[in-house]
Amino acid sequence: MSENPYLVGLRLAGRKVVVVGGGSVAQRRLGLLVDSGADVHVVTRSATPAVEAMPGITLVLRDYRDGDLDGAWYVLAATSDPEVNAAVVAEADRRRIFCVRADVAVEGSAVTPATLDHAGLTVGVLAGGEHRRSAAIRTAIGEALQTGAVSAPSADAAPGGVALVGAGPGDPELITVRGRRLLAQADVVIADRLAPPQLLGDLPPHVEVIDAAKIPYGRAMAQEAINALLIEHARAGKFVVRLKGGDPFVFARGYEEVQACTEAGIPVTVVPGVTSAIAVPALAGVPVTHRGLNHEFVVVSGHVAPGHPESLVNWDALAAMGGTIVLLMAVERIEQFCDVLLKGGRPAQTPVLVVQHGTTAAQYLLRASLADAPEKIRAEGIRPPAIVVIGPVAGFGA
Ligand SMILES: C[S@@+](CC[C@H](N)C(=O)[O-])C[C@H]1O[C@@H](n2cnc3c(N)ncnc32)[C@H](O)[C@@H]1O
Repeated sequence: MSENPYLVGLRLAGRKVVVVGGGSVAQRRLGLLVDSGADVHVVTRSATPAVEAMPGITLVLRDYRDGDLDGAWYVLAATSDPEVNAAVVAEADRRRIFCVRADVAVEGSAVTPATLDHAGLTVGVLAGGEHRRSAAIRTAIGEALQTGAVSAPSADAAPGGVALVGAGPGDPELITVRGRRLLAQADVVIADRLAPPQLLGDLPPHVEVIDAAKIPYGRAMAQEAINALLIEHARAGKFVVRLKGGDPFVFARGYEEVQACTEAGIPVTVVPGVTSAIAVPALAGVPVTHRGLNHEFVVVSGHVAPGHPESLVNWDALAAMGGTIVLLMAVERIEQFCDVLLKGGRPAQTPVLVVQHGTTAAQYLLRASLADAPEKIRAEGIRPPAIVVIGPVAGFGA
């Protein structure tokens, strides 16, 4: 008799599944079982806090006893006690219910594959009980699908319209899984200057890449030209990815693009990104909040000076607060920002961290205080893109 298991997909929605055990092994399985819509009953002497708090399960806090599998379609024996697991398998066999035994997989009548979900596909891998191997293959397939190295033609038409995708702050690994997947499906990519160029390098040759930074006209006109391009290509039936640095809505005019597409009747998908405002300080060793140091952080655009008629920033309020200020686009007017904060009462010795080209190979750090930051920034020749972090947290790692 072949020992090779037969790979199958179970439709568990509304069907009773019993998990015996409530430790970390059971915990790892519960999420997918709940997602499948199963009526999950967990019988366990004790449960991890995550299992206790898991929504959508019936938790029975007591020892397993014969009869607990009554009415079940599928069973997992996942306690730390081999005798209990053996008893669960025995009851399941008696009742002809498929049962996974977590501690000794060959003793169960079923085995759990390493799985992944990708754009409506479910991939399952079994490797004769070699869990590391099945997990590694599953992960490799997942990465290949995400990068487009393996394409998964979909029964549904390819996504249409426009996807506004946050590409993250610079390191190409900091795009989201969804962003990466949609990028791999793009026909046309309209990319910002700050979107990581490595992400574009991975695209197949037939993909048209438009560099939004090279679109002529002034700022306002260029935005109109980008909106027009998004609409034009989407109307021509192409799937257009608008790839923007960081998060597409943080000082990035992303919502104007959403509005333009919506007005033109083009469907838009928004994929948030890892914003430089948080990630650049983090990867330079500075958290934007830290218990006991600050209860607020404010992200501020420095593209207009304090007191400018178009300024929407209350600099006096920023000067009065004690928390973290994260300044974007602030290099050009840094003297004015430090000045207004000092005049408003921020202590001169407040730590300042400046990060240029954060999260990339060219990352450059400068440490200063509110009093000497402008002078140091000029002396070191800091140029955009740079983030300026002001507040007690900026002193970390100094
Ligand atoms: C127009 S804003 C766009 C912000 C972007 N949407 C985000 O969420 O990160 C551009 C500014 O973000 C900051 N920035 C973006 N990426 C950066 C990086 N890798 N290093 C330092 N600053 C960065 C700089 O202040 C830059 O001038």
